[in-house]
Amino acid sequence: EKGGFEHFMLKEIHEQPKAYRDTMRGRIDVSGKHVVLPELKLTPEQIKNIRNVQIVACGTAYHAGLVGRSVIEQLVKIPVETDVASEYRYRSPIVTPETLVIVVSQSGETADTLAALREAQSHGAHVLAITNVVGSSIARDADDVITTLAGPEIAVASTKAYTSQLIAFYLLGLYLAEVRGTQTPEQIAHIIAAMQALPEQVEKMLSQADAIKDFAEQISKHEDLFFIGRGLDYAVAQEGSLKLKEISYIHSEAYAAGELKHGTLALIEDGIPVIALATQESVLEKTVSNIKEVKARGAEVMAITFEEHVAGLLKSVDQAFAIPKTLPILTPALAVVPLQLLSYYASLARGNDVDKPRNLAKSVTVE
Ligand code: M6R
Repeated sequence: EKGGFEHFMLKEIHEQPKAYRDTMRGRIDVSGKHVVLPELKLTPEQIKNIRNVQIVACGTAYHAGLVGRSVIEQLVKIPVETDVASEYRYRSPIVTPETLVIVVSQSGETADTLAALREAQSHGAHVLAITNVVGSSIARDADDVITTLAGPEIAVASTKAYTSQLIAFYLLGLYLAEVRGTQTPEQIAHIIAAMQALPEQVEKMLSQADAIKDFAEQISKHEDLFFIGRGLDYAVAQEGSLKLKEISYIHSEAYAAGELKHGTLALIEDGIPVIALATQESVLEKTVSNIKEVKARGAEVMAITFEEHVAGLLKSVDQAFAIPKTLPILTPALAVVPLQLLSYYASLARGNDVDKPRNLAKSVTVE
């Protein structure tokens, strides 16, 4: 049942190219120029009237929602907020019938997310669910559903469900952008073409997993570490940090790279591992300055970046892992893969139960 893999998590990491293809299949027309979402009940009229978007989810699905926020803001130019579901209801969110609320849930059964969905509906909002389980409570109650076709996810640590949620956000963002005319047909076709290259690019990274394994063995001896990044790199850093905590039990924090000097830098001491996500070219120079801040305090820095930046970055970091080149907005769909492998191998090196970490359940049905 594990298809020759030692753990479900590793199997699911390797299933991501297929999950990307399956989630895209039938949702990109043959010309490669348009996203089609025939399942959506949301009419073009309703889409034109959307005034704000709220994304609500828990855990890893929340981290997908952080990427979703950037995707929709950049492509559709609508204000977007992303909340963890257990906080959303209690902050009196401003929800109107012109609010599109997107709930994200692999299982479709998370109690907090379901409660947020109901709260949003009670204010007249249209609720669109991104979920992996057809017929789940969230899929049944939502006004609209985009199903991620990741296939069953068994490992408690979510991998292919997260990346499929990213694909769903890209598809949705492009669809909304076309209806609202916020991207040119050329821009849309360009992003679609880059999306279609992602599955093969993930395959390429998976074939280089050994480089990550060595680094994971090093960090498995530590009790604390940091992930840093800016913009979408920060969103990916948060997911990488959660994954590591969840299965390796190593304490880690994800920090917006520019925020370190406002307090957290005090924790950086000799030998502490720092994983720097450095893919977002518009802020790369600034991220490099932040890398230098931690290096100067003795941190051991591993960077995740594009091949073309490896040589330059190696002047300021100890190690670098290159990911294949893609558009800035699509980078999370690649950059997270080495972090998934890192947490997997760190957990393995510590002799933990990778697929069933202590204290956690696959589906959280209590609030
Ligand atoms: O089924 P859901 O996507 O609603 O689950 C939400 C979280 O409980 C889940 O993503 C959790 O954070 C994962 N175990 C993380 O790997």
